[in-house]
Amino acid sequence: MKQEQGFSTSVPLGGSSRRLGVLTVGLGAVATTFVAGVELIRRHGKHPVGSLSQLGALESATGERVRIADAVSLAPLDGLVFGAWDVLAGNAHERARQVNVLSREDIDSVAEPLSAIQPMPGVFLPEHMPTLEANRVKSAKSKRDLVDALREDIRAFRRSNALDDVVAVYCASTEFEVEPSPSHRSYEAFLQGLEKGDPSITASMMYACACIEERVGFANGAPNSAVAIPALRERARELGVPISGSDFKTGQTMMKTAIAPALQQRALGVNGWFSTNILGNRDGHVLDQPAAFRAKERSKAGVLESILEDRGEGLYADLFHKVRIEYYPPRGDAKEGWDNIDLFGWLGYPMQIKINFLCRDSILAAPIVLDLALFTDVAARAGWGGVQEWLGFYFKAPETEEGTRALHDLFAQRRKLDRSLARLALI
Ligand SMILES: NC(=O)c1ccc[n+]([C@@H]2O[C@H](COP(=O)([O-])OP(=O)(O)OC[C@H]3O[C@@H](n4cnc5c(N)ncnc54)[C@H](O)[C@@H]3O)[C@@H](O)[C@H]2O)c1
Repeated sequence: MKQEQGFSTSVPLGGSSRRLGVLTVGLGAVATTFVAGVELIRRHGKHPVGSLSQLGALESATGERVRIADAVSLAPLDGLVFGAWDVLAGNAHERARQVNVLSREDIDSVAEPLSAIQPMPGVFLPEHMPTLEANRVKSAKSKRDLVDALREDIRAFRRSNALDDVVAVYCASTEFEVEPSPSHRSYEAFLQGLEKGDPSITASMMYACACIEERVGFANGAPNSAVAIPALRERARELGVPISGSDFKTGQTMMKTAIAPALQQRALGVNGWFSTNILGNRDGHVLDQPAAFRAKERSKAGVLESILEDRGEGLYADLFHKVRIEYYPPRGDAKEGWDNIDLFGWLGYPMQIKINFLCRDSILAAPIVLDLALFTDVAARAGWGGVQEWLGFYFKAPETEEGTRALHDLFAQRRKLDRSLARLALI
C-alpha cells in the first residue's frame, strides 16, 4: 500500500468491520455532544465539521492532497461503540437534554442509541471537586481496589461488545490542583500511594492508571494532572500505551495560538494580552472555584510564552498576559471570549486588536474527542507507547516527554501532527 512520493488509500487494519470501543470519563456537555454527534453523522448524514480525521487532508512532497481518512487506517465511524463513566445519574439521552447543547430535535432523532448508554458509576474524590454533588460513585476499601474496579469495567465493556480495541478520553470535570508528591515519581511509588490512600492521587490519575494497565490509550481533555505524572508516563512507555493531554484547545486558546504566530512572523511587538470569558455551563460552575480555576489558568496562560519569546529584539520583553474566566449562568454552553491585544509597530507606535469570539464550547470540543479517539487508536496499533507529543495540536497544555519543550504555535503543531500521520500512513 505504499507509494514512493505520496500517500495511498489504506483500508482499516483488521478490515472495515473493526469495532473500537470509546470510553469517556464523564458524560456531560462535551461527551454527550461527541457521542450524539457521531450518531447524527452515521445515522442521519450530518456533517463532521471540525474533525480532521473526517475532513482533513495531508499534503505530500509533490503537492498531492489525500484525505487523512483515506491515507491512515482509522477505525470506521460505523465501528465505534460508546461507553462512559459518570458520577451523576442519567443515560446519554437524558444527559444530552440536560446539558442543552444540541437541539431537542437533533437529540431526539438519536434517542435510541443514546438511551442505551448508561454510564458506569465513577470514582469520585470530593476533596478534589467539592462543588459536584456526585450520586453514582464506586466504593471500595482502598484506592487500589477502586482502580481494580475500573479495570474490571473496561474488561466487561470490551467483552460484552466484542471489541477489537478500546481507547479512553477524559471529558470529566476539572479537579483541584494537587502538588507534586513522592507517589507521582515512579510507578512503584504510585502503587504504594494507591494502597495507602495518598491524597495527592486524584480520580483522573486512577482512571488513567486503570486504562494504561488495560492497554487502553488515554487522552486527557481537562487541565488535570492525570497522565502528566512521571509514574504513569513510565508505565505507559513500559506497556506501549499511547497517552496525551492536557485540556482540549478549543476556542479562545485556539485563536490565540493562531494569531500570536502571525504577529511574531511579522516582527510586531506585543506588550499586553488580556483574555476573559463568560460561560454558564457546569464546567464554568466548577471553574468558579479558585483551586479549579488555577489549573485552567495555568494551562490557558502558558501558551504565549513559547510563541512570543523575546530573544533580545525587544518585542515581547514586557508582555503582560492575563486570563480570566467568569461563571455567568445565562450563557450556558454558548461561551463568549474577549481578547484585547496591545501591540506595537514601526518605531514603537501602539495599536490594538479586539477579538470577540461567540463560540460554543462543546461544539468545538466534540470533534477533538473524535480525532483523539481515532488517532490514539491508530498510534496504539502502531506500537507508539508513552506521551504522544504529535497530538499536542489538540491541547492547551501539550504533554511532552521530559526535557522537551511544548510546542504551542497552532501551525507548527499541525505540521507535527501531519508528519506523524504521514508516518502512520506508511505503516
Ligand atoms: N468544552 C470545552 O470547550 C472544553 C475545552 C477544554 C477543556 N474542557 C474540559 O472538558 C471537561 C468536560 O467539560 P464539559 O463542558 O463536558 O463539563 P460538564 O460539567 O458538562 O461534564 C463533566 C462531567 O464529568 C462528570 N464527572 C465529574 N467527576 C467525575 C468523575 N470523577 N468520574 C466520572 N465523571 C465525573 C460530571 O458529573 C459531568 O457529567 C472539563 O474538565 C473541561 O474543563 C472543555
